[in-house]
Amino acid sequence: MTDVVIPLADLRYAAQVPAVPALPLPASGLLADRLGRPLRDLRISVTDRCNFRCSYCMPKEVFDSQYKFLPQSSLLSFEEITRVARLFAAHGVTKLRLTGGEPLLRKHVETLIAQLAELRTPESRPLDITLTTNGSLLKRKAQALRDAGLQRVTVSLDALDDGIFRRMNDVDFPVADVLDGIQAALHAGLAPVKVNMVVKHGTNDDQIVPLARHVREHCGPGVVLRFIEYMDVGATNGWRMDEVLPSAQVRQRLHAAFPLQPLDPSAPGETAERWRYADGGGEVGFISSVTQAFCSDCNRARLSTEGKLFLCLFANRGHDLRALLRGGYSDEQISGAIGLVWGDREDRYSELRGSGAPAAAGGERRVEMHYIGG
Ligand code: GTP
Ligand code: 5AD
Ligand code: SF4
Ligand code: SF4
Repeated sequence: MTDVVIPLADLRYAAQVPAVPALPLPASGLLADRLGRPLRDLRISVTDRCNFRCSYCMPKEVFDSQYKFLPQSSLLSFEEITRVARLFAAHGVTKLRLTGGEPLLRKHVETLIAQLAELRTPESRPLDITLTTNGSLLKRKAQALRDAGLQRVTVSLDALDDGIFRRMNDVDFPVADVLDGIQAALHAGLAPVKVNMVVKHGTNDDQIVPLARHVREHCGPGVVLRFIEYMDVGATNGWRMDEVLPSAQVRQRLHAAFPLQPLDPSAPGETAERWRYADGGGEVGFISSVTQAFCSDCNRARLSTEGKLFLCLFANRGHDLRALLRGGYSDEQISGAIGLVWGDREDRYSELRGSGAPAAAGGERRVEMHYIGG
């Protein structure tokens, strides 16, 4: 059961078929990894495709018309995804995030959301179900997503200036359509809407204050803007440290325009440090995985479009749950296998990188963000 299996369709990332325990223990909702971290957040990638070509994620030169995306047959079906999510909920997961690529490109994604909305925690509570989108299809889909049971949404938006935004998405997509998508999400009741801006020094750092001003003036406190440090995720974006603007500097610039006050974390293991505008204009967040790693309480697992489980955003291999799903194993067996995989986890890539440890990810090719989601 622990042999490395690399089926033909899946050559892009190595994956191990997880060991299935002979006597599976019932899921208790209390898993802990080798560093004592619980499992709370499952991020599910529903497609590896995207209609944008952000250079920090899917540079055009690599992801061109020749690039082979995953074939339909290798994707997990909605029933398979829901089955996995149910097993994770029994293990303590309380939050599901649909990602991509661009998740709204997956046909009938609202049908999946409706299935996930039926799941319950061991305490019979519904799960927090959210989705990360580039916003391009949000205006059209916000209401249907809400009706299906989506609770909130996170929209990526890197600039307010139309020219800068069109250059960054590299498909000439206009900023106005994303802004309309955000308004549609608010209107549909998908609040709080989080807006994620990846800050690249020299590319869009002059957009920090204008975007914050726009959100304050036109969106109100139902929208929380978060600034993300540009990360060295994947192997294709040509990441350089001099293009990272540390969150401390982003905060200084914002504070000079709109004074800020710190807020307490709202949940353990959070990615963003929360601040509020002193004048009551709402909340902002800073996600600093380069300058201030937050691995010590990382409770996130990631499921790829083809059913591989990744224990870290910077992992170079996954655990092939699809092989178990399609191999006739029972829920108890798969649940036991998930428990073993999490119990053996010791990933903390950002911390190791920050401490200068050599080859934090073993020097192998790391998983790409469009494949695993954010
Ligand atoms: P909320 O519950 O809405 O606050 O979500 P979140 O902050 O957990 O999720 P989101 O997907 O919005 O995360 C924001 C960004 O933080 C992602 O796009 C990534 O760039 C980064 N990020 C999220 N999770 C991790 C992680 O585990 N490690 C690292 N290094 N970065 C992460
Ligand atoms: N660094 C930081 N954030 C990234 N994202 C994609 N690639 C990177 C990167 N290299 C963000 C997107 C989106 C989310 C899915 O991840 O902007 O908000
Ligand atoms: Fe850009 Fe998100 Fe698409 Fe990546 S998945 S290219 S970050 S829109
Ligand atoms: Fe979690 Fe890995 Fe990100 Fe650290 S680098 S916070 S372990 S996903």
